Amino acid sequence: MAKDKTQYVCSECGGTSPKWLGKCPSCGAWNSLVEQAPAAAPGAAQNRFGNTFAALGGASELAVLAEIEATDVARTATGLEELDRVLGGGIVPGGVTLIGGDPGIGKSTLLLQAADALQKAGQIALYVTGEESGAQVALRAHRLGLERSQVQLMAEIQLEKILATLDAHRPAIAIIDSIQTVYSDQLTSAPGSVAQVRECAAHLTRFAKASGTAVVLVGHVTKEGALAGPRVLEHMVDTVLYFEGDTHSSFRLVRAIKNRFGAVNEIGVFAMTERGLRGVANPSAIFLSQHAQPVPGSVVLVTLEGTRPMLVEIQALVDDGGPSPRRLSVGLERDRLAMLLAVLHRHAGVASMDQDVFVNAVGGVRITEPAADLAVMLAISSSLRGKALPKGFVAFGEVGLAGEVRPAPRGQERLREAAKLGFSVALVPKANAPKKPIEGLTIHAIDRVDEAMAVVRQLD
Ligand code: TYD
Ligand code: MG
Repeated sequence: MAKDKTQYVCSECGGTSPKWLGKCPSCGAWNSLVEQAPAAAPGAAQNRFGNTFAALGGASELAVLAEIEATDVARTATGLEELDRVLGGGIVPGGVTLIGGDPGIGKSTLLLQAADALQKAGQIALYVTGEESGAQVALRAHRLGLERSQVQLMAEIQLEKILATLDAHRPAIAIIDSIQTVYSDQLTSAPGSVAQVRECAAHLTRFAKASGTAVVLVGHVTKEGALAGPRVLEHMVDTVLYFEGDTHSSFRLVRAIKNRFGAVNEIGVFAMTERGLRGVANPSAIFLSQHAQPVPGSVVLVTLEGTRPMLVEIQALVDDGGPSPRRLSVGLERDRLAMLLAVLHRHAGVASMDQDVFVNAVGGVRITEPAADLAVMLAISSSLRGKALPKGFVAFGEVGLAGEVRPAPRGQERLREAAKLGFSVALVPKANAPKKPIEGLTIHAIDRVDEAMAVVRQLD
């Protein structure tokens, strides 16, 4: 019966069709029709505005904002410190978290470890596996040294059965690995389709809110959204975490892209070992390569990831290019690089039009904040001149099109972190220069790109 009223809605123009078509009959877009579950309460009485509100629910009570008590959300720490940090302190009852990332990056590993830690702390953790069999999950548990784990496991992909089980057991946390494998009987689309993913996630979210079970949805997707599925869920859930990292290195970053219960852009740093993921408490060491002597083209940036300052080495290589020189960046934005090269030329007289320019953030980290500009620029000019910056040198600051260097947020904290790790010379925007000296750190404060270049030449 229900299936009769299913309709297909175009994600481009909103037009509808009673059956699935490759091309939208309204706007002609290809592959844009998405199945939608039938609406409830057909034939309900309408009010004078032609709406069915009264028939559907009746009006709710209102409350004056000032009279509502502000209560802090209760959290349960997972026991994995780096994960708790990105979550904003731990899992929140009734909270829904989406954790995305490339296949093989370590999502299942991390969640199994978290489930076990919660179970050990006396919470019921339920792990729903749709991608792997129970035996495969058990194999992973062995590898993690969790062969005696009391985590409840369910190999199931049908949404209705999953919901019934969750309702019967009411776990503190339910992990759905992955949302792309879950399907609902109510829809005819294949598991993993946008309609299924959205509908199943909506039901699980409703369950979480109603029951207080914290739900974690695993989604295979890259930050760029290469696999479109789970990106449609981002607005539905409370927290969105992305697993990042270079599969060639053992380091993994878990970044909060959205968090209703904590800070965004907070990161947790892990190392993938033979026995699962291990938190890295002092990540700066990873992102610095060990040069015995300073080398041209290398600058250490003090970046701020979430609430934590981190030191990352930025490397540049500038070399004679062919007729159409290349500009390549790894871990940094390419458009930003092009802009910095133009600013360097116009405002500091450093020309690189006929040169190939490559820049790289060491350790597979991805840097998005504009405060990286100054370090990138210094790395490029250092490579171009073939002169290394002095030992123990750090920099940060945003560069504008007019050649000005703008302050970065929380400059003092960045400088203190650099001093703590033994760095001795800093080049920073004037507004970030501390009023009181920081022990062990010589600070050069500048306002403009050309001043920065002048300071660097003095340091040669
Ligand atoms: P997995 O958690 O299965 O990734 P995802 O769920 O994101 O697809 O992680 C798989 C990778 O991690 C795999 O290449 C093996 C590696 N791994 C380790 O290096 N050490 C371990 O202890 C475990 C369990 C996995
Ligand atoms: Mg997995």
